[in-house]
Amino acid sequence: MKTNEVLENIKARRSVRAYTDQQISYENLQTILEAATYAPNGMHYESWHFTAIQNTDKLTELNNRIKGAFVKSDDQRMQERGHNQSYCCYYHAPTLVIVSNESINGGLVWIVLVLLRICF
Ligand SMILES: Cc1cc2nc3c(=O)[nH]c(=O)nc-3n(C[C@H](O)[C@H](O)[C@H](O)COP(=O)(O)O)c2cc1C
Repeated sequence: MKTNEVLENIKARRSVRAYTDQQISYENLQTILEAATYAPNGMHYESWHFTAIQNTDKLTELNNRIKGAFVKSDDQRMQERGHNQSYCCYYHAPTLVIVSNESINGGLVWIVLVLLRICF
């Protein structure tokens, strides 16, 4: 079977749900954000926004607000998460990148939370 470095990276990638509090470097964060801007996108609008949060107080506030919204949900699993003291939507990652987009032609605004703890 044919193989190359890109394929090997794809196969080795795993979702991470536990993080140390070690912060990634500014250079690595810039590299990751730059790579993200090369993603394919609808009609090549590139209308995305990348918001990197590393401030602990802001991350805690965001988690509390999200949990507050979960508590009001009709979904019982979401309510449980909202009431769970230890629940953290970003798994206590020291860096959180929020990818958001503008609402175009009545399209839905989508938000993807990307948890970062990437070693180079
Ligand atoms: C669209 C999408 C939504 C996902 N949602 C969750 C999620 O809510 N919680 C979670 O722990 N993992 C979530 N995942 C991660 C998948 O569970 C994970 O990719 C899958 O179990 C395979 O494991 P791997 O990424 O380590 O290979 C999501 C993945 C995708 C692509």
